[in-house]
Amino acid sequence: MAPRKLAAGNWKMNGDLASLAEIDALIAAHPAPSCEVLVCPPAVLLHPMKERAGGARVALGGQDCHADLAGAHTGDISAVQLKDAGASHVILGHSERRADHGETDAVVAAKAAAAHAAGLIAIICVGETETQRDADQTLAVIASQLDGSIPEGATAANTVIAYEPVWAIGTGRTPTLDQIAEVHALMRERLGGRIGDAAQVRLLYGGSVKPGNAAQIFALSDVDGALVGGASLKAADFGAIIAAL
Ligand code: G3H
Repeated sequence: MAPRKLAAGNWKMNGDLASLAEIDALIAAHPAPSCEVLVCPPAVLLHPMKERAGGARVALGGQDCHADLAGAHTGDISAVQLKDAGASHVILGHSERRADHGETDAVVAAKAAAAHAAGLIAIICVGETETQRDADQTLAVIASQLDGSIPEGATAANTVIAYEPVWAIGTGRTPTLDQIAEVHALMRERLGGRIGDAAQVRLLYGGSVKPGNAAQIFALSDVDGALVGGASLKAADFGAIIAAL
């Protein structure tokens, strides 16, 4: 049986307390979505979001965590703290973290292990740059990132993989459906060597997912949902994407 689909919204460094009204509007418009709905706001909004009527009805996630569960790491947030604030998931290894903070596959794997230890589901992101795609390196890059970023003990219950081509993020450009299908098939196969229940691991596509292209992407066989950036900030757009799942 295919895993339940997941619509995950990544607010990135956007939103404030007033933005939480979007969650109420989303749930009011989609009170019983057929897919699981996850919102990953900036960490300071997790607890207030959880307290709201709408926020109580969606899963919440962080956008990063430290590889240690506690300690002297000024400015960082631990997986335990995310869980305490109401999160069930955490996005790890997003290309913006890899680029802005120099996160390597090994760092991502250590953070994912911490997330698992704290009882969080790790959403591990992988994706090629445009230069790598143009050089026909996409499949090799994805395989290498997967191999290096997934920790021991990963299962379909505690790990989600998101394929996000770097060049498709926030650009309005997307790979062709065949290109997405090719990468997702590779990821499914590659996970088979690492995770016992690989067929049940949810594989998300992310990168300029919009109401207008969501249904086509979600119809692909190894696409189990989406990691949505910009379009997750507005209830109408995210709601339309949820409806397409
Ligand atoms: O985490 C989300 C992705 O980076 C996609 O962002 O939907 O704004 O392209 P986007």
